[in-house]
Amino acid sequence: MIGVFDSGVGGLTVVKEIKECLPQVGVVYLGDTARLPYGTKSRETVIKYSLKNIAFLTRFQVQMVVIACNTASSYALPALKKQLSIPTLGVIKPGVDMALKSTKNKRIGVIGTEATIRSRSYEREIKKRGDYEVFSQSCPLFVPLVEEGIIDGNIAHSVAQFYLEGLKKKNIDTLILGCTHYPLLQDVIAETLGEKVHLISSAKAVAQAVKKEVEKRRINGKGTLMFFTTDAPERFARMGRLFLGKTFNGVKLVEVE
Ligand code: DGL
Repeated sequence: MIGVFDSGVGGLTVVKEIKECLPQVGVVYLGDTARLPYGTKSRETVIKYSLKNIAFLTRFQVQMVVIACNTASSYALPALKKQLSIPTLGVIKPGVDMALKSTKNKRIGVIGTEATIRSRSYEREIKKRGDYEVFSQSCPLFVPLVEEGIIDGNIAHSVAQFYLEGLKKKNIDTLILGCTHYPLLQDVIAETLGEKVHLISSAKAVAQAVKKEVEKRRINGKGTLMFFTTDAPERFARMGRLFLGKTFNGVKLVEVE
């Protein structure tokens, strides 16, 4: 089994990509909806929540943990790696790997939650790898829009226009969608920025990194999927069907305190 956690339902975009490239691998998913959003919290709080989530996942003898949350990857990955003896993957490095393969003009945009952007995790990882220009923008209203199912139409377009206006002037050719919810808004984002900007989904990128690890460690399974949430399972189930369609098989409420 692989353990995957996110602050809520957004990480299901990562599960979807993992299942597409590794259908045989079992996944236990925890969405910490009781404490969502992580994107507005401090580093200390996000680390504390992440440790609790991992303690829950390790009850299932998972062989690998995927932090399917950009905010938790930005703030907590180094602390978590120190404490865990199993491989732990975050979304930042895989997203950057993919972006660097895509960019031709070395001008990369990054969008994410306030915390992800404030942490400068993407910017640091990109700049470590060479002489690139990075333009960052937090888009705090994107998460509630997706959670409300508003992923197209006038409201979604106006919000995208509002946040992406500045990036449009920066001549970027690649944009990292640095939040698990954003792949659901990718059509709106693409229409706002135009076809010259290539969008990188951190969900797709991390699934490829997981595939490499799984093959290296010969992790196998029966493709079992289990979903847990820390609050409002009905809402999670509604969103689960939106994100995963038929693959979604119900969710259980748990306490991770
Ligand atoms: N899952 C979070 C992320 O990818 C977004 C939602 C939140 O703020 O908790 O950054």
